[in-house]
Parts: sequence; C-alpha cells; structure tokens
Amino acid sequence: EARAETGKSAFSFDEVEAGVDDTHHVAAGYDAEVLLRWGDPLFADAPDFDPSAQSAAAQARQFGYNNDYVGFIPLDGSNEHGLLVVNHEYTNPHLMFAGLVSVVEKDGKKKLEQKTLSKEQVDIEIAAHGGTVVEIRKDGGKWQVVRDGKLNRRITADTPMEITGPAAGHDRLKTLADPTGTKVLGTVNNCAGGVTPWGTYVMAEENIHGYFSGELPAGHREAQNYERLGIPEGSYEWAAHYDRYDVGKEPNEPNRFGWIVEVDVNDPTSTPKKRTALGRFKHEGAESIVAKDGRVVFYLGDDERFDYVYKFVTTGRFNPDDRAANLNLLDDGTLHVAKFAEDGTMEWLPLVFGQGPLTAENGFESQADVLIETRRAADLLGATRMDRPEDIQPNPVNGKVYVMLTNNTKREEADAANPRAKNAFGHIIEITEADGDFTATKSRWDVLLKCGDPSVAEVGASFSTATTANGWFGMPDNCAVDSSGRLWVSTDGNSPKATGRTDGLWAVDTEGDARATSRLFFRVPVGAEMCGPLLTADDETMFVAVQHPGDGGEDWKEFGRPSYYEDLSTRWPDFSPDLPTRPSVVVITKQGGGKIAS
Ligand code: FEO
Ligand code: CA
Ligand code: CA
Ligand code: CA
Repeated sequence: EARAETGKSAFSFDEVEAGVDDTHHVAAGYDAEVLLRWGDPLFADAPDFDPSAQSAAAQARQFGYNNDYVGFIPLDGSNEHGLLVVNHEYTNPHLMFAGLVSVVEKDGKKKLEQKTLSKEQVDIEIAAHGGTVVEIRKDGGKWQVVRDGKLNRRITADTPMEITGPAAGHDRLKTLADPTGTKVLGTVNNCAGGVTPWGTYVMAEENIHGYFSGELPAGHREAQNYERLGIPEGSYEWAAHYDRYDVGKEPNEPNRFGWIVEVDVNDPTSTPKKRTALGRFKHEGAESIVAKDGRVVFYLGDDERFDYVYKFVTTGRFNPDDRAANLNLLDDGTLHVAKFAEDGTMEWLPLVFGQGPLTAENGFESQADVLIETRRAADLLGATRMDRPEDIQPNPVNGKVYVMLTNNTKREEADAANPRAKNAFGHIIEITEADGDFTATKSRWDVLLKCGDPSVAEVGASFSTATTANGWFGMPDNCAVDSSGRLWVSTDGNSPKATGRTDGLWAVDTEGDARATSRLFFRVPVGAEMCGPLLTADDETMFVAVQHPGDGGEDWKEFGRPSYYEDLSTRWPDFSPDLPTRPSVVVITKQGGGKIAS
C-alpha cells in the first residue's frame, strides 16, 4: 500500500488514479454504491422518477437536485440506522429538462441559447431545492433507503419557515405577504451545513442573489445592503411567476434569505427556523463543536472573494441530558469575525451593536441591523478579506479548526493569511484556538496547505514531497474530520481541460512528518463536483454527494453539450438513454467491513 515516504500517514489505502471519464472511482477494496438519486421517491405514495412526466407535485415527494451537504443523525445511537440529511443546493435546468438548450451560430461563433422556463418547470425547480431528511439502514451488509420512514421529509423553497432571533420581526424583514417579518416561505441555495450536538439539521443559505430579479424602488434603503451581496442577479426565472422574487415588488424579501436554517428532524411537521443570530451573508456551512464550558461554537464561512470567516458562540450551554433544552440555543449568542495577523496570531472580533463602529453613526440602530448587514459590520471592524471561505471544520481530536479557502483569482496582493496573489487553486488554514478552548477570542493560525499542482513551480503549492501526481488537488470546498481526527477534503472546480482530472475526495495528513501529504480516495464523473463527505462515528461508512454530473462547465460551453437528449458527456449514474444524469449520494464501505482507510 502507498505510504508517505517521510513520516507515517494516518491513512492506509491504495490511491485512485486521477483522471477523467464518465463514472466514479473509489480506492481498490472499497464499494461505492449509489444510494439516492435525484427523483428517487422518499415516501410510500411518492411516484417513481419519470423525467418525461416530471411535475412539481412529484418532485416535492422525491429526492431533490444537486445534493451538497450530507449529514447523518443516528437513530438510537446506531452507526447502521439513522437519518440522512441532505441539502439540495441549486438546479441546473439545462441538465434537468430535455430540449431546453440549443447551440446556435452567431457571428461565426457557437453560442448556447436557453428557452424560457414554463411555470411548471419553475415549480419543479422550487420543489427540487431545499433539503431531504430520509431514514436509511444497513440491512444484510447493504445500505438501503427506508421509503416509508416516519421521519422522512422534503423541505423545499416553498416550505413555511419561522424567522427567529434578534432580527425576527424587524421592519426590514416585513413584506406585503408577511407584515409580521417572522414568516417566510422556503430556503434556497443550501450549500454545506451541519448537524448540531443536539441532533438538529442546519442548512446554510449561500448564493441567494441569483433568485432575485427586478429593480429596487429609487432611493430604497436596502440599495447598499443588496449591492454588497450582488442582489438582484436574476439567474433564475422565478420572479416571472412569483412577485416576492422581484425586488421592485417586494423590496424586503432578500433580507429574509442568507441565514442559517435549523430543522428539528425528530418531528417531520416542525417549522424550520431561520436563526438570525448567526448573521446574514453567503453562508457556506455551519459545523459545530461543544466547548469545554458547554457553550457551542459554530464555524461559518462567507463564500465570496474577499469575504470573511466567522464563528458563533452560544450564550447558553449544551445540555446533553435534555434535548428540548437545547432547541433554541441558536437564538442567543455572539457572532465573531476573524482577523488574521502576520505573526501567526488572530483575533475573533465580536459583531455586537453599540460596540466599536457598530453604532447609529454608521447606520446601525440595533443588533438586527448588524445581523442583516453582517458583511458591512465586518468591513467596519477590519476583518481579514479572504480567498472565498468555504466549509470550516473543527477537529475534536486535536483541537484545531480547518478552513477551506477555495480560490481567488482577483486577488492582486497577497497577505499572510492569503499568501498567493491570483490564487487559482486555493489553500487551507489551520486555526489553533487558545488553550484548546473553541470559544477563545485570541488564537493562532497557520497555513496547512497551498493547493495546486506541485510540479508546476509557479503555482507555489505546498503538498509534501510524498504526495503523488494523483494526490494533489485544487479548489478545496467541503471537508470532514473523521472520528480519528483525520481530514478529508473534497473539491469544486478541477477542470478536466486545465488539469486532466475531475473533482474528488482526498485524504489529507495533518500531523507529524506526513503533514500536507494528500492522496486521492474517490473521484467523480466528468462535469460533477464533489460534495458531502461524511463518515459515521465508527468510520465504517462514508457518504459523498456527486453534484451536477455531466455539467460541462467550460467544456460544455465550447463543445456544445446542451442537454441530455442530445450529446451529454455522461449519463451517470443510470447510463440509460432515457434518463438524464442525476446528482446522487454515494455510500462507500470497505469490502469485508472495517474502518475506512485504516
Ligand atoms: Fe456552494 Fe461555496 O459552495
Ligand atoms: Ca461549497
Ligand atoms: Ca463539513
Ligand atoms: Ca461547491
């Protein structure tokens, strides 16, 4: 088996060869089986997937599109029976609906033209967003979906939700449809997320700007707020059918998105809650850990070039003996933003109304204002502008925190925490909280890894010399820490054309001489992005999410692979001429059983 040359790797498996083809690949000796596909029925009465007869009603009872975050909430403490919670980040109509896109020649150049979506197609998109809660169980050595599980649930972009915490009921959240400012329909663009120590599912609302169209009324007070978030961007066509996505008609609706949503999975009729105390921005994820004193710390990335790394510390303490006592912990606490210093120290700066510049002089009248415009508040505090913060994972074994920074080609000047200008491949920062206390406000940091191909000198990657040509990666995005404290990193954006490889999942050593050694464990089909990774507490099962398989990206634009009924690069996972490619969750186990990569 491949071992790091210098120092002993914490991982043991035969590395997958990097490359590009139409299917997925896992390390030898492992099974990687598709568990849940877009359109799979989740309820006894749900219809089977039929792309030619797809409806919004069917989609609302089926597994949604573009699975991103994957969490596992054990039932009765089991590692082989539990609830899988999955975010459905966004929709790709050109991959979902036949004949929607065609290639046209204009001025001698190939261009893509997409038809306007029908209202039913928009409704399918709305129903394909959100999340899934589904019971799964390992039976006869094989993981299965429990189709009639009592707790199975679909959450969509239309599910009624409550807005809670300091911004709930604020005038800036009130709309014609909701004069209370406390009730909102749905959640969108749920990227990464988390499972709380008390067993709820948290979903991060990320790229909310694309759903809004129209023009704010002249001189509207939210102009600056929306500009900072790129609202309205109008890449979705929802405003054509629903006024609330038109900022000219419902100017406050975007203030009701960009939050962390908490779902109590124990009651499938519970109302999901948008927890405003955790701030409003392009939330990537919300992984958490119980600190020594029982307060709970959530690490939050804001995925935009030059935006920030945050953490939220609850005021209350986690009660392991009383689940109900924890259910509103997320309504009261302190949001902090990271400022990294050149000498390897860092500060977590509190975003508290009335402190420092967060006063009426700067347009903040209350904590609600600070949270609604979290980015502007963080700007004023002088937080460090980062290279697109993605998933952030605390490690309970070694007390560190890993921050995925995916890339930032627009950076002109490097700084200590963003050490490369024109950062095309991203990097990973390791935070060491002071005295192993995750609530600490003065801590230390280091760069764990500068990503990219180490054989190209000008890239400036810092993988160990033991890392093979398969082992390097760029664009870290989602990540997981397993029960042994080992780091797994998945990627978004490894272009087959530029790098000869698809996205995948890499095992990254963080300790001793093997530190910064990386090896490829799993790779996705062409066009897909690698999301998820999540291991059960016994490290015997790994879940990964394959997002938008067959989406050609640049290749698609150049070569014209417009829709699955024409010439798509893959039909993964069904490989049927009658079925489109389908984003799916894959479950990985070791043949014969045992801990993964051990
Ligand atoms: Fe949805 Fe930041 O990735
Ligand atoms: Ca992500
Ligand atoms: Ca994660
Ligand atoms: Ca991603």
